[in-house]
Amino acid sequence: MSATLAPVDPRAALTLPMPTRPLGKFGWNASLLTLGGVKWDTQCSDSEAAALVHRAIELGVNTFDTAFIYGEGESERKLGIALEGIRHKVWINTKIIDRTYDGAMKQMETSMKRLRTDYVDLMFVHSVDSEEQYHEIVSPNSVVKAILEMKAAGRVGHIGVSGHWVKHVMERIIQEVDFEAVLCPVGLFNSAYNYRFVDNVLPVARKRDMAVLGMKVYGAGRVQHARSVAPYLRYSLHQDVDTCVIGCDSIAQLEETVGIIKSEPPPLTSSEMDDLVPEALRVTQQFEGGEFNWVSHYLEAPR
Ligand SMILES: NC(=O)c1ccc[n+]([C@@H]2O[C@H](COP(=O)([O-])OP(=O)(O)OC[C@H]3O[C@@H](n4cnc5c(N)ncnc54)[C@H](OP(=O)(O)O)[C@@H]3O)[C@@H](O)[C@H]2O)c1
Repeated sequence: MSATLAPVDPRAALTLPMPTRPLGKFGWNASLLTLGGVKWDTQCSDSEAAALVHRAIELGVNTFDTAFIYGEGESERKLGIALEGIRHKVWINTKIIDRTYDGAMKQMETSMKRLRTDYVDLMFVHSVDSEEQYHEIVSPNSVVKAILEMKAAGRVGHIGVSGHWVKHVMERIIQEVDFEAVLCPVGLFNSAYNYRFVDNVLPVARKRDMAVLGMKVYGAGRVQHARSVAPYLRYSLHQDVDTCVIGCDSIAQLEETVGIIKSEPPPLTSSEMDDLVPEALRVTQQFEGGEFNWVSHYLEAPR
């Protein structure tokens, strides 16, 4: 007879160890939560951002994600301040938006200065979301050449690619360029539109032994109009990801997410999915503009 384990209360779970998964083949066990650098860039002061990062570390987060363009550099700058003296204990991803060799070299130097470090563990080519961008990246004198040179010089550990809108572009580029990691949407909000990177991008990435980092877990914040964040997080945690990159603008939001992750919740049942998909669609349709422009693309996608 098997005993049924009672579900762990997420508040009580905060003191439990942080679950980790190997990040690709990099030899780094990443916390299942990677703290995302959108929000502390614009919503937090230097000291609030540092407190958020320090609380995350205290809770077992060891992997942080930022980008050259977040908050016009404020995300990297604030992370650099927060990690002063402890940078060696954590893994840092950042992302370069310039597509040219020269421009990317300059951006990487600036990023490292802001981050107060002389190396970045994982450097992404940021937001590859169109055919035109695909062609820019695969051209000979592109950002890829710049990152590979930085890697050869020991200032970058690994090279990755991120994108959030066009899954066939992402599938193609990871087959043609030797990226070692991919960051793409793995959220229930994406699934609700039947436009899932998990269907085409993740299997190719795994076949190529790439690290997989998931985003849009909370639909870029639209989860706030849902009944609860927990099922959305449960959905993404059970996709084939090494870590979920999630942004927070307060310690309360961080602790809620960490508590759920540490309680190691089960996958969604099919009846829970049936209940959540209409909610995800309704919530999505309340948004317009800004970060949410990408929804229009999903709205055009076949269901
Ligand atoms: N192309 C790229 O490479 C790319 C693009 C976008 C993001 N990213 C990375 O991925 C990270 C996540 O971004 P995302 O766009 O995927 O967003 P997301 O993680 O789906 O949503 C994050 C937002 O959800 C809200 N939230 C967080 N915890 C919450 C809680 N416990 N309860 C209620 N609401 C909560 C916050 O919104 P409010 O602040 O409004 O409260 C937060 O900013 C970013 O920080 C960044 O590091 C990468």
